[in-house]
Amino acid sequence: MRTDSPQTIYRKNYTPPSFLVESVELGFDLDPARTIVANRIKLVRNRDGKHSDIELHGEHIELVGVRMNGKRLKPGQYTLSEHGLTIRKAPAKVTLDIETVLAPQENTSLSGLYVSNGNFFTQCEAEGFRRITFFPDRPDVMAKYTVMLRADKEKFPVLLSNGNLIEQGELGDGRHYAKWEDPFKKPSYLFALVAARLVCQEERYTLQSGREVLLQVWVEEGNLDKTDYAMQSLKNSIRWDEQRFGLELDLDRFMIVAVGDFNMGAMENKGLNIFNTKYVLANPRVATDVDYAGIEAVVGHEYFHNWTGNRVTCRDWFQLSLKEGLTVFRDQEFSADMIGTDTGRAVTRIDQVRTLRQAQFPEDAGPMAHPVRPDSFVEINNFYTVTIYEKGAEVVRMMQTLVGRDGFRKGMDLYFARHDGQAVQCDDFRAAMADANGRDLKQFERWYSQAGTPVVKAVTQYDAAAQTYHITLAQSCPDTPGQTAKLPFHIPVAVGLLGADGKDLPLYTDGAAGQGTVVLELTEATQTFHFSGVAQRPTPSLLRDFSAPVVLDYDYSDAELLHLFSHDSDPVNRWEAGQRLAMARLLKLTADVGAGAPLALDATFIAAQRALLTDATLDAAFRELALILPSETIIAERMEVVDPQAIHTARQFMRRSIAAALKPELLAQYQANQTPGAYSPDAQSAGKRALKNLALAYLLIAPQAAELELAQRQFDAADNMTDRAAALAALIHSGAPDGAASALKSYFADFEHEALVIDKWFAMQAGAPGTDVAAVRKLMTHPAFTLKNPNRARSLIFNFCGGNPSQFHAADGSGYAFWAEQVIALDALNPQVAARLARSMDRWRRYVPALQAHMKAALERVAGSASLSNDVLEVVSKALA
Ligand code: ARG
Ligand code: ZN
Repeated sequence: MRTDSPQTIYRKNYTPPSFLVESVELGFDLDPARTIVANRIKLVRNRDGKHSDIELHGEHIELVGVRMNGKRLKPGQYTLSEHGLTIRKAPAKVTLDIETVLAPQENTSLSGLYVSNGNFFTQCEAEGFRRITFFPDRPDVMAKYTVMLRADKEKFPVLLSNGNLIEQGELGDGRHYAKWEDPFKKPSYLFALVAARLVCQEERYTLQSGREVLLQVWVEEGNLDKTDYAMQSLKNSIRWDEQRFGLELDLDRFMIVAVGDFNMGAMENKGLNIFNTKYVLANPRVATDVDYAGIEAVVGHEYFHNWTGNRVTCRDWFQLSLKEGLTVFRDQEFSADMIGTDTGRAVTRIDQVRTLRQAQFPEDAGPMAHPVRPDSFVEINNFYTVTIYEKGAEVVRMMQTLVGRDGFRKGMDLYFARHDGQAVQCDDFRAAMADANGRDLKQFERWYSQAGTPVVKAVTQYDAAAQTYHITLAQSCPDTPGQTAKLPFHIPVAVGLLGADGKDLPLYTDGAAGQGTVVLELTEATQTFHFSGVAQRPTPSLLRDFSAPVVLDYDYSDAELLHLFSHDSDPVNRWEAGQRLAMARLLKLTADVGAGAPLALDATFIAAQRALLTDATLDAAFRELALILPSETIIAERMEVVDPQAIHTARQFMRRSIAAALKPELLAQYQANQTPGAYSPDAQSAGKRALKNLALAYLLIAPQAAELELAQRQFDAADNMTDRAAALAALIHSGAPDGAASALKSYFADFEHEALVIDKWFAMQAGAPGTDVAAVRKLMTHPAFTLKNPNRARSLIFNFCGGNPSQFHAADGSGYAFWAEQVIALDALNPQVAARLARSMDRWRRYVPALQAHMKAALERVAGSASLSNDVLEVVSKALA
């Protein structure tokens, strides 16, 4: 058991830095076992500072020596702790020369300077720079950096850092050097270096202004055939930010570097983005449609950070969503615009809603719930969450909904006019939006300060004689840790009314008139909105385009939902109506499983599924999404007491019933949605493949020889990974052991040297309902498995603990015991990754008592283990609190 209690850091305790840094000169003598870092910083006393002590952060590094204004400081002249170095009562202007020593090859945390496959990389966000040198490692200290890299030329021919290469040459003794200068002031979390044996695809690209820039994508030699899509996505991102927001690339050189060992998706270091290989490498043979879409989104995301994050950064880490929420919103819009069609946009929107429900709503309802702008944290790395990112993006999106697209652009322009080059707060963004549009967004601030998912309850009333229609909306928000009695939010609720013919009725209301959709602004606890000239009783389409991240509670009848499902002009609500139809039945089936009652699925529902599946006027991508049933996790969130086995049985029953009833239609769609010709990842083709492969999965639920053969044929003949992986997954899930075993074997042999493809191999098995804890333990002994590589650990362990509920929640608690073991083992290597895994137990209090007891024991076992990181300790102690 740890005896020291970790410190909680509070937003209200923010104090400005006592010293600012004018310039940083870094010298690296790179050696995997022993790297020497020389750091010369020029500091000046900050007028806003509260005292004259220089406070430098530093962790897990060895101090060799420190000089102040040329004079060596003796140990009594500074204090050194586990967390940093302090020089009391320093003069107003000082130059410090600090030398540190590190062992990058021992650094398994992948934070700071580390070695991956023999190459050097850095990851400094949030607080990794302090693992390299002593420095005021906080985002409101921005400085100009010059970086000298020295390393063995044979082993590390490529030496990269931020900004421009200003000098390079030989050093004799087989070593060489490169000197880089970043013309822009930046916080330390945006520092990066790479020293590696890599090759690049490069291109000169002309900006809209006519200026030419150099774009590079750096990878290991064997991966040079997988860089085209990342490069194309980078060029698309550059063009899009120019056109949509008038934002130009401010550097002459922009580099993306891929690394196989990486904690997150990617990092927006100034001019030198470092990426998880998963979000760079693609060709049809190894990458799926989903991988391609992920690459486009993440390349866009990191590129867009150059303005929203780098040019304007965060004052402190409580403001993280200032850059992350806004940048996710921007990458979402980018992906939608790249598809271009209305249904294409809707498909991306539906995906976003699914992510919110699958991951963010549970987070917001659990022990780690926190506002978009948190008030406190123990370990900032635990706050790179779906709330900060995805809910943060929803909050930005709502502002766009309130001020309109043009108004939003005005707000962005004002934000940059005011804050370019500064480290600011979430409030500053909201103020720019409000001021640029003459809008009052004061109450809107509660989206930043109050955690929890609001519930909006709607009641409607039609008066045929007066031809009026009334919608009463009542909002509430559940308590979350440390927050009770929440105040009303400012919620945009987009609404349309459907007539009996399925068309939108014209809308006349107090606030607004609209063709098909009006945005109601709910600001009170309860509010009634009146519509006049309503000639017939309408079917309300509420919360169109998912206009706010809330739970909408409205007592729809099946008939109304079927009407919306077939006619709503808003595709998101069409999809939503289908989800509601399915959810009502899934909840009923789950209850029936629990009660031992016979299970049945009504013909109405089957007919609706059939109509959807076979409606060729709808995009394949939309049909596929609409046919996916709510996940077991999403169903669980709707229940007071969760019995994961009952949910699994109910959902499987529904899937089996659909498969049995629609077999000919599924087969027909399987054939109709083939994509002959050369593979292309475009949205149209990807949608067809998705629908075809969904049909295949259904056909393999209770397969006969013909279906098994269909999957096997697709597996053998596929010329792309989307189809190959889908066929393999279908075989694995079919539970037909022979087919899956030989396919798994040949897949492994074909792709043994493609790490990302082997990740899929582990992931598919980890997530299959037939894979129990024992099978996962066996997979862990496979020579290709390692806990040290985060992608590999995620592919097997995370996908089992988070993506295979019926096995993870085994009645004997063996899944939880496994979880505890792995959290502890991972924590010794990589606390950030371990803490993510620890989160899979967040919702333990919701489960049936027998499971709860096992879960609690597993949590206590982790909490009681010796030398736990702050990362994991925060997660498990909040879960147990
Ligand atoms: N800023 C990066 C992104 O969103 C994420 C880096 C987070 N890293 C971390 N260790 N918490 O693109
Ligand atoms: Zn980001």
